[in-house]
Order: sequence, then structure tokens, then C-alpha cells
Amino acid sequence: MTSSNDKGAQQPGGRPSRGAIKAVRGTRDLLPDQTPLWNRVEATARAVFARYGFGEIRTPVFEATELFARGVGEETDIVSKEMFTWEDRARAASEKAQSLTLRPESTAGVVRAYIEHKMGETGALQKLYYIGPQFRRERPQRGRYRQFWQIGAEVIGPPSSGAESPVRDAEVLEMLASLLDELGVHGWRLELNSVGSAEDRALYNQALREALAPVKDRLCPDNQRRADTNPLRVLDSKEEQDQEIINGLPKIADYLGEESREHFAQVRAALDACGVQYHVNPRLVRGLDYYTRTTFEFTVQTGLGTQNALLGGGRYDGLSEMLGGPKAPGIGFAIGEDRLILVLQEQAKQDAEASGTAPGEEKLDVYVAPLGFERNAAALALARELRREGLSVEVGDGAFKLRKSFDIADKIARAIVLLGEDEVATGVMTVKMFATGEQVKVPRAELGDRLRAR
Ligand code: HAM
Repeated sequence: MTSSNDKGAQQPGGRPSRGAIKAVRGTRDLLPDQTPLWNRVEATARAVFARYGFGEIRTPVFEATELFARGVGEETDIVSKEMFTWEDRARAASEKAQSLTLRPESTAGVVRAYIEHKMGETGALQKLYYIGPQFRRERPQRGRYRQFWQIGAEVIGPPSSGAESPVRDAEVLEMLASLLDELGVHGWRLELNSVGSAEDRALYNQALREALAPVKDRLCPDNQRRADTNPLRVLDSKEEQDQEIINGLPKIADYLGEESREHFAQVRAALDACGVQYHVNPRLVRGLDYYTRTTFEFTVQTGLGTQNALLGGGRYDGLSEMLGGPKAPGIGFAIGEDRLILVLQEQAKQDAEASGTAPGEEKLDVYVAPLGFERNAAALALARELRREGLSVEVGDGAFKLRKSFDIADKIARAIVLLGEDEVATGVMTVKMFATGEQVKVPRAELGDRLRAR
């Protein structure tokens, strides 16, 4: 293995090395000091999803480009600027060349799978969740990567399954509130809006176009383009100089039809009944074209800087039809797992500073130290037995000096077991527990219980 310090070093054989290869911009390695938190988050999410009747779905990491063009929308930033797309050459006469894309999000793929496997034909509501990497060619910064992870879920089914009911929207939001609470995320804020039905949106788009026409010249070039192609996108622009104009634009709430208004009122009433707090944000239109009616984001102030959207989602009642499927209303969300982890790490740091303690790190149960290389084999055999009893164990090396074994053990384990000639002969082990400093003799048969005791 070469490290970044090896630049310019000679390789074996005398050839100069060509410098170390680094991870690609916007991608990251997650090392063992980070992955325990990722695993805890994922295990908690899986447990919560199971309580709400969700099952896991795993869809491919790449799909036909057309899926995203049709599903997410050609005019969105994601499809127009951020996708990793390539022409896949035909390899045999029976194959066609095809444009493929690394998935920038998973909703389109999940709905494609729902259609392809005729999941609607059972008549039952489908509750599906996924955890996996997504890819967007964005400008990398804290909380924004080119490969990032989402934990997401979709509730979808034929209209007769009740997939359109506001109860579904409220249940998804209540589940998210519970999940964030269970993970220990403090200070989250739920921003909620309704973008109406496709018909409501057409009316609203028209109103926006009219309102934007006389002021368009004063907008930044990106927003000028959006004002023509997709005026709704202007609303979620963060461009500082355009905010005054944007704040003065018509509000979607005034263009919702009776049904959309009633649906939104029922979502809010169910959230009120559950005691889930939310803030209606009329500018929350989201960056994907498939949304109808309920849209939402959960934001946090700690740890994310400007990338403060921890998760986003909403209803997509026409998406299945856009992808050539049957009528299948749905609602879902995706949590940015990288961002969730940043928030939890930042909060743990702040909590530790407030209480004056170091953030807790998980240690192994025991370090087995053979005294002399003749004891290496016996040490490995003892480690095997202890691991089979469910303990976490590291084995040292008989070549290490006793001082060195203690130093390593103290860093990584809660206890050290010394394995010398006497211990092997008598089966009575010498154990030191680091928390108390006590050193005791323990018969082999009692060792497991002794090491487990905290
Ligand atoms: P989205 O808002 O594009 O929605 O992404 C959801 C979340 O993914 C964001 O709130 C953010 O936390 C995270 N995220 C997005 N881009 C990045 C990035 N470059 N780096 C790190 N994190 C990122 C969707 O993807 C929809 N499919 C959600 C959905 C599901 N709607 C209905 N069902």
C-alpha cells in the first residue's frame, strides 16, 4: 500500500513511483472510526421502518438515462447539469447502445420497479425503503458530495389502496419525526407546503410567468432562464440579490384547487393530532418535477452550514403514469445520510463540551497478550474461544515487550489477559481491568463472565 507521503519514492525494482492515487473529488472513504455511527443510524432506521410496516427494496445503482429525464424532469438542475451519464456501447449484435446514468436519486428507480414487477396488482399499499449511494455532479462542499448516501422510503399503490390519503402523508412525516427523535437529532424543523395538483400548478406557473415578465431583466442569469423554462424553480433560488423580487411573487396557496386545499388541511390536522410541529413555507417547491400536493423538508441549524436540508420529500401522484405505468399515487422522502451523520457528530461534540467529557468511543472487551512467541498459538486459540462466547477480542504478539502490550491494550480494550507459561500450564489467567486498575487471577471457566462484567 502507498500512502500520500510516498510521492516520488522509488518502487521496488528502482522505477520512480508516479504519485499516490487519491479518491475522486466529491467522494470519500469512511474509515472504521466513522462507520460505527453509520451502522447505528442505519440499524435505527431499519428498526423504525419495520415498526411502520416498510420492507426493503434494492434497485440498481445505474438506470436508463431516460428514466431520470422523464421522472425527475429535463429542466431540473439534477438532470440538466448534475448527472453522471455515459453511452454504453453495444457488445453484441443482439445489444443496443444505450445511454445510462448513475442514479442521482432513487424514487424514479423505485417507481420503475413498482411498475416492472406489477406491484400494484395485489391491490395492496406498498411501503418500501432503501439505503444506498446516489451520484450528483455538484460542487463539493461540507455536506455536499458527488457520491452521497440516502435513506429513503416510498409509500405507493393503486388509488383503491388508499395511497392518496392524507393519512399516508401525515404518517410518513410522523415517522420521520420519531426517527429523528430516536436518533437524538435535536432542534429539527419541519417545513411543509402543498404544490397542488398538476392542474393547480399549471395555473400557478402561468401566474408566475406573468408576474416575472416585467421584472425578469433584474434577475440573475440562472433565474432569467428559469423564468422562461420552469418558473417554479425561481422560488427555491438562494440568489441573494433576487430575494426581494421572489418574496413579492404570487403564493401557491392562492392557486390551490378545492381538493388540494382540503388534502393539505387534512395532512395538517393529522399532524396536529399527533403533536408533530411544522412550519408552512409557501416557497418550498423542491428541485424535482414529479411533486404534487404535499412537499416537505426537515432542516437543522447545527453542523450543516448552508446545506441545512437534512431530508426532503413529498407526494408524486402522476409519476407512475409519466413512466408508462398505471395510476399509482405515492409519497416518500430521502434523508441525506452524510448530512445526518455530520449533525450527529457535531451534536455529540457540543454535548461533550457542555458536560466536560470526551465523546464515548467503543472499546474491545479484551486484549490477549502472549508472553513470548511460544505462547502465540495458545493466545490465538484462547481468542477463538472467547470470540465464540461473543466477546470482542484482539490478540497481541509474543514478540512485544510487556510494556508495549499494556500500552496497546489500554488504548483499544477494556481489559488485558496475560498468557505466560504459568497461565497456560494452570489454566488460571492474569487479568487487568483498565477501568478500575485491579489485577486478578481468573480461572479459564470464569473468564468470559468476568470480562463481560462492566
Ligand atoms: P432531494 O431533496 O434531491 O430529494 O434529496 C434528499 C436529501 O438528500 C437532501 O435533503 C440532502 O440531505 C441529500 N442530498 C442531496 N444531494 C446531496 C449531495 N450532493 N450531497 C449530500 N447529500 C445530498 C430526493 O432525492 C427525492 N428522491 C426524495 C423523495 C423521495 N421524494 C419522494 N420520495
